[in-house]
Amino acid sequence: MNGVHPMWLRPGPIPGLAGGDALIEGDDPLLDTVRAEARAAGMHVAEAAASDGALAPQVRISIDRAGTPAGFAVTGDGERTVVVAGGASGALYGWFELVRRAATGRLHEPGTTRHEPTQAVRILDHWDNVDVHPVMGQVERGYAGGSIFFDAGRVRDDLSRVHEYGRLLASIGIDRVAINNVNVHAREARLLTDDLADVARIAAELRPWGIRLHLSVSFASPIVLGGLETSDPLDARVRAWWRETADRVWAAIPDFGGFVVKADSEGQPGPFAYGRDHADGANLLAEAVALHGGLVHWRAFVYNHAQDWRDRTTDRARAAFDHFTPLDGRFADQVIVQVKHGPMDFQVREPVSPVLAAMPRTRVALELQVTQEYTGQQRHAVYLAPMWREVLDFAPFGAGSPPVADLTATGGGIAAVSNVGDDAFWTGHPLAQANLYAFGRLAWDATLDPAAILDEWIALTFWSGASLDREVAAVVHELLDASWQTYESYTAPLGVGFMVTPGTHYGPSVDGYEYSPWGTYHFADRDGIGVDRTVATGTGYAGQYPPPWRETYESLDTVPDELLLFFHHVPYTHRLHSGSTVIQHIYDTHFAGADAVDAMVAAWASLEGRVDDAVFARVRDRLAEQQRSAREWRDQVNTYFLRKSGIPDGRGRAIFA
Ligand code: GCU
Repeated sequence: MNGVHPMWLRPGPIPGLAGGDALIEGDDPLLDTVRAEARAAGMHVAEAAASDGALAPQVRISIDRAGTPAGFAVTGDGERTVVVAGGASGALYGWFELVRRAATGRLHEPGTTRHEPTQAVRILDHWDNVDVHPVMGQVERGYAGGSIFFDAGRVRDDLSRVHEYGRLLASIGIDRVAINNVNVHAREARLLTDDLADVARIAAELRPWGIRLHLSVSFASPIVLGGLETSDPLDARVRAWWRETADRVWAAIPDFGGFVVKADSEGQPGPFAYGRDHADGANLLAEAVALHGGLVHWRAFVYNHAQDWRDRTTDRARAAFDHFTPLDGRFADQVIVQVKHGPMDFQVREPVSPVLAAMPRTRVALELQVTQEYTGQQRHAVYLAPMWREVLDFAPFGAGSPPVADLTATGGGIAAVSNVGDDAFWTGHPLAQANLYAFGRLAWDATLDPAAILDEWIALTFWSGASLDREVAAVVHELLDASWQTYESYTAPLGVGFMVTPGTHYGPSVDGYEYSPWGTYHFADRDGIGVDRTVATGTGYAGQYPPPWRETYESLDTVPDELLLFFHHVPYTHRLHSGSTVIQHIYDTHFAGADAVDAMVAAWASLEGRVDDAVFARVRDRLAEQQRSAREWRDQVNTYFLRKSGIPDGRGRAIFA
């Protein structure tokens, strides 16, 4: 598209595929999509085998209705490849697997591989508003310009960008998109009713890619839109209103996916106002979508956001577990309880939420944040897949028990907040495209290795002419591979979190949230730092984990260093398992983190003239800002702790006390 970066799907002929013959058999709109893609890749496409059996095609794609519709098998013999899919969506995903193989030189690799999505539900949530919010802009926590769906107070007339987005998402296996912000303001509430015809136009752009559209809805819709005086989930009029509304939505959009709800959370309306609980609230909507095969993603992000900082008995980390686990078993089949990966709020380091394993009779989804709200806001290059890998691998019941990826696989699946906007690079920072790519790949196959995903993304993205420049690939890999740990090292230490500028959440402000109502404190004083969340002397949060984790986190002997300050308040002189003291660790990591960013800047500079000029310039500028910001983080954090503790850096480096 004009002026818009193609991300990982280059337009035009694909080396390896172009010029070859493709036989794509079957009758389905998604197969028409595959045929169009094959033609665009430069292949000669036939729909039926030649009767005389002449000319075996290089690529053959067919459907055998075995296995799940989205699954497929690929068999290569060194010269040709056959894809046999369970259904039309599997044929589409199989095609994009061939594109990946072509980019990584494995097109006709001999042997058979089977591919099935490990997560049954794979959804991206947009926090897009129709209107531009005076503080947040159009996309809440968006760092890539305005919305690709909405402009000038309505659904865009030109949705070609949405069409292209659907193509990109299909290529990584995403099959659902919620198009509007979970904070549903007055204008956005009306998407559900007044704007249905326009929402249907968005759905039509996503449909050829096998993607179903979802809407975030306000729990107060019966009042705001329906003219009722209540949205009590047990009120017969409220129930009828939701059923009729859902019927109208599905009449307009037959493959509509369902609703996303943020209720009783950060000021959004919910069932608590009527003395009802979240099962009552979610089941109200489940009843409305049930007939249509819809889903209700009900978010578990419920906590007291108006806490008195003097109150040491309330712990925000406990809230989702305390609210939701007593309701296990009461949610209807259509309800997916959507749980953020950590108990707080998408920090660079948090323990994995204990809620994910505590509701065995509920469909639970893992929620990740691809948009980099707390991880550098797409001004810092931070490849998040290694963090997600740790979350997916976490085994709540100890080594050898099913990991988080297995717990969500057949139930609620995986969800993430998108990082895409109308920016020419889609994601603001061109290297942030890797996060969107990696999210889709991990949602499809939760066992993939982040480094391998990174290489695959690099191979698809950094083509020059017909091939990949190996040196460029090596530099980009090196730059991103450990960038999550680098970001962690120059920001809030040892799992304590936050220390960001209130409101924007960008840049350091060590005490920014310390006396706020948000429940996000570090409790640093002259002697020590950290939050005591033990059962013995603290808030008891550690006790929300099953064994062995509750004991692991409870004890200073076993708590992992990187989570020390999430679970314990310790003196600055406390010795970590690494051998360093807390204060020396803070100094060392902050110097090392800023140095690592210097190295990233130098590495990228070496690519001038070897990558696309516009990409080069944008990344260079963002890295310059990351360097400035990392130094600011280093100096503010180090200075703060030197002033508090009075303990000098053991290596005598410059700290501004
Ligand atoms: C964070 C974020 C908000 C968002 C909220 C949510 O707190 O700062 O902008 O609304 O998460 O996930 O609902």
